Amino acid sequence: MCGIVGYIGNKNAYSVLLNGLKRLEYRGYDSAGISLLDQNIKVYKKKGKVSDLEAFVADRDISGKIGIGHTRWATHGEPSDINAHPHVSMNGHFVIIHNGIIENYGVLKKKLADRGYTFASETDTEVLVNLIEYIYIRGKVTAEIAVRLALTKVVGAYGILVMCNNEPDKIIAARKGSPLVIGIGSDEYFLASDATPIVEYTKSVVYLNNDDVAIVRKDELILKTIDNNKLVPKVQQLDLDLEEIEKSGFDHFMLKEIFEQPRSIQDTFRGRITSDFTDIRLGGLYNVMDRLVDARRIIIIGCGTSWHAGLLGEYILEDLARIQVEVEYASEFRYRNPLINADDVIIAISQSGETADTLAAIQMAKTAGSLVLGICNVVGSSIPRETNAGVYTHAGPEIGVASTKAFTAQVTVLSMIAMILGHMRGYLSDEKYVRLITELHDIPQKIERILSLNDEFKQIASLYKNANNFLYLGRGYFFPVALEGALKLKEISYIHAEGYPAAEMKHGPIALIDKNMPVVVIAAKDKSYEKIVNNIQEIKARNGIVIAVVTEGDKIIRDLADHVLEIPHADEVLASLLAVVPLQLLSYHIAVMRGCNVDQPRNLAKSVTVE
Ligand code: G6P
Repeated sequence: MCGIVGYIGNKNAYSVLLNGLKRLEYRGYDSAGISLLDQNIKVYKKKGKVSDLEAFVADRDISGKIGIGHTRWATHGEPSDINAHPHVSMNGHFVIIHNGIIENYGVLKKKLADRGYTFASETDTEVLVNLIEYIYIRGKVTAEIAVRLALTKVVGAYGILVMCNNEPDKIIAARKGSPLVIGIGSDEYFLASDATPIVEYTKSVVYLNNDDVAIVRKDELILKTIDNNKLVPKVQQLDLDLEEIEKSGFDHFMLKEIFEQPRSIQDTFRGRITSDFTDIRLGGLYNVMDRLVDARRIIIIGCGTSWHAGLLGEYILEDLARIQVEVEYASEFRYRNPLINADDVIIAISQSGETADTLAAIQMAKTAGSLVLGICNVVGSSIPRETNAGVYTHAGPEIGVASTKAFTAQVTVLSMIAMILGHMRGYLSDEKYVRLITELHDIPQKIERILSLNDEFKQIASLYKNANNFLYLGRGYFFPVALEGALKLKEISYIHAEGYPAAEMKHGPIALIDKNMPVVVIAAKDKSYEKIVNNIQEIKARNGIVIAVVTEGDKIIRDLADHVLEIPHADEVLASLLAVVPLQLLSYHIAVMRGCNVDQPRNLAKSVTVE
């Protein structure tokens, strides 16, 4: 969700904020705004992209060495100039930017309205800034006390930065639910909702915990709890390089991230597969391995693409380790009164480590006494800190809103967990264990081969860029791949696409098939190969267009299908890591040809910190 950035120091704040907003734009892009505090509070905000804000500010006063900036993913109130952040309190004393949702804003708004407050926007955030100001004026307290007291009245989630015109030497930051990180420079501090705007200035950071409040001056960082107990800031070093968050010559982050997969998958297993390929060691699970091996049931939770990785995890874990696995959408799990046992193991999967529904589901599972593990990409994010143990995917920063390399890294981690458990539980022989490890090790070079066919995929994309609907079919391990392929296409090209288990086609989707319907069939060689060939025949019998993902050298399907996308052979347990790559590229090219903004598709956000 929304991106937050703040600066206090000796530089011109505007340039730091603008640069930061550009780096954060993947978190939300409905509107953008900044506030600079000099002698008084200046606010510039605009519906649209950061570039619209930049144009708007071009000939205005940008002086000031302290400021805050925001890029918004709308929750309360449509995207508009007025609803854009920052929001200023009615009497002009406070300015705020906010990521999250104030759930009781209606009640608070009414109380403030009864006391004479009026509101310019429809946002929950403007209610909060007015509440802070009301307490400040009525209580004759400092800005810090006003912020802390106001937050005790708030129900909901927030990451906020606040400035006060009467105290122009500080930014006050607070978090509950929505992430905040503070970068430490020399006589300067950088504040942000994630580390991407900070990394070019400093690698020393402090992550705020829930209910932390930070009072940040250019030469001092004070950290407290919301009820005024002082805390010692825990300084950590960022493991992130600037090149990792830049496009490095690619047209889009998404394309760069698709092409990074040979490296990112390698980074995921590097140091974990032993050099002789005989074992896998996941240090993050070392202390909980006994409980994991003895688990009666594993429940995997996630959202979006991470849920698709979880579904693959179910297939792989049940196949290799013979453990009962259930996969749940975090948003359903948390609200449907699920049965959770103390001897269940919960695995939460999340690229960002910040997804609100996944975090809430984790809390539920912890309350039930289960062991909760995380598979996350963003180091130091909330989920790894809330879980008992876990495995980082180490895919590197993923900036494109549509997830690609994070997905393959998640599947890599799940495969490694399944292999270890299968081996330890006696279902995987030494021989098969070593063979699968060796196969996993070979996956990156096989993906290189697929990437070298990019021009072919682009050519096929050009033929179907104007289709209105797509169907994606797969069986077994390739069913989750079909879901992920369909999701990729719809999120970035806005073409309606559905993923289905191939055999289910007969129970509905077959009615949609005609000469205009491209059907992407994931039909690489596996144990249901013959069955999927039959499904392809059924589609062709109804004049459907078949684009098939096949194993290199497949002649049968080449003769049947309209187009084939070839992938190298791999054991079916790991072949999904290959099969998804042509689908990512197909979606990417179609979206580019349709003139869509692939890195920032409409209405979506990279990190969904509201439920
Ligand atoms: C958003 C993103 C998706 C992502 C999902 C879950 O919808 O656009 O790419 O799969 O959130 O996010 P997570 O960070 O928990 O994996």
